[in-house]
Amino acid sequence: MSDQTQTSSEQTAGAPAIDVPVVVLSHRAPVQFRREKGKRLIRRGAGGLVTALVGLAGQLEDAVWVCAATTDEDSAVAAEHEGGAVPLVMTAEPRPADGDEPDDAPVLDVRLVDVPPQEHEDFYQVFSNPLLWFIQHGLYGHATTPVIGRREREAYEQGYVPVNEAFAEAVAEEVRARGGRALVLLHDYHFYLVADRVRQACPEVVLSHFIHIPWPGPDAWVVLPQDIREQIFHGLLGNDVVAFHTERFARNFLLCVQELLGLPIDLQQKTVSYQGRTVAARTYPISIDVGALEEMAASEDVAERREELERDLLPDGEQLLLRVDRTDPSKNIVRGFLAFELLLEQHPELVGRLRFLAFLQPSRLDVPEYADYLGRIGAVVARVNAKYARTGYAPIDLRLQEDFATAVAAYTLCDAVLVNSIADGMNLVAKEMVVVNTRDAVLCLSESTGAHAELGHFAVTLNPFDIQQQADALHEALTMAPDQRRQRLEAAAGVVRANDIGKWLDAQIADLRDLTGLWAGPARGDELQPEEGAVG
Ligand code: G6P
Repeated sequence: MSDQTQTSSEQTAGAPAIDVPVVVLSHRAPVQFRREKGKRLIRRGAGGLVTALVGLAGQLEDAVWVCAATTDEDSAVAAEHEGGAVPLVMTAEPRPADGDEPDDAPVLDVRLVDVPPQEHEDFYQVFSNPLLWFIQHGLYGHATTPVIGRREREAYEQGYVPVNEAFAEAVAEEVRARGGRALVLLHDYHFYLVADRVRQACPEVVLSHFIHIPWPGPDAWVVLPQDIREQIFHGLLGNDVVAFHTERFARNFLLCVQELLGLPIDLQQKTVSYQGRTVAARTYPISIDVGALEEMAASEDVAERREELERDLLPDGEQLLLRVDRTDPSKNIVRGFLAFELLLEQHPELVGRLRFLAFLQPSRLDVPEYADYLGRIGAVVARVNAKYARTGYAPIDLRLQEDFATAVAAYTLCDAVLVNSIADGMNLVAKEMVVVNTRDAVLCLSESTGAHAELGHFAVTLNPFDIQQQADALHEALTMAPDQRRQRLEAAAGVVRANDIGKWLDAQIADLRDLTGLWAGPARGDELQPEEGAVG
């Protein structure tokens, strides 16, 4: 195996053990507990963070992951452990640890926090999604939305605030249990108020908050009432580092705290001075576990699914356009189908020869905006298919399901992939497809994705709002000369292989080590002072 195809765990195998306790916080858990036929089942969660951290777990002396209980069985587990953590061996099929594991086993303590259902609904269904999500992805049409009324304010005051307090307390308890010193890695838009509270409770802590979604400039944030947005910014400034996928998001964050809080920033150093401390805005583009994905693409399971797809969608060696997404309005799925309709209208020779596989995972259907969006997806697909269907041919194959093996099979087989997001923190579909595709597929990539900063050069760039431009770009992709397609795909895959998920977490930990001097020994303010330039 070459260096470039190592998995994250292999990449970190030679790295020194991290001798500071690590406390991670995210809303989604690295595992989900379920009960089937009276039996408790544990399923490992997907996603970059789980992969990266589990890859590192063998090197961590002590790590706990605090997250939300989201199933009934999660709540049962939380109750059985009286809110405390459950030690798990995080293999492909996670199991409870029995204490006899070897030192380098990927053991992770998982602490499931159960909050009252009404609080969680306000926190998740009204404030985090849609309000914060829509603001940060630029999804509101300000002539009519959002309307911030009593419901929204209550969702903040009686949902987002108490849920953040509950999680901050859980994190602080874990830090205190470790002598008050730990590296705390917070994640995403659900927990903007946590850092400040944890710092107050545990002043010796080192805090970093990774924001996985876009960070827009100050104008986007004035949609929120001043008191709420200021609490959010003050909450985040409790960190030592606030981390993003791209330089643009990091710069926007600094401009926000300058403009909306009047704080002094340094755009060169990418820092803000706050209450006698320095807070750094940093950039770490997330990636994928290349080795694991390649292994999966070579599996029997994927081969079977590939055969099925080939039989159903490419019976005569025609062309396949693919998209793989959650049914999220930020993914711009409806405009993607409108662009595809234009493509067929303007290039009738493609009718009967080009199929569009839309592999979509229903998402957040408890949030009205998402349920409505799913309805609109169904309607536009029905219309386009009715217009262009022939015997034995429907142009769009819409599959509403979550099945990663089929998605990977489709990645290997497609001729072009459509990623036309209105805004996207990163977009891992783009990175996954270029690594495993075997037909020199062309990446059609929105300029408003984080991935565009790394892969735009090898992609056909899309304007997410301009459906004619998207139709033209799709045509360019589907008719591109074979050698150009191959060169672009190989170059894009090379970039992803060289920047695997393991690097993403290693780089953050190395920077935190440099910035805070945490690992050097005794407590801060004691014998050891932070190194020069440190932000602690
Ligand atoms: C994005 C967010 C994650 C979130 C995921 C799925 O990737 O950055 O924090 O977990 O979407 O959304 P869900 O609401 O289903 O957790």
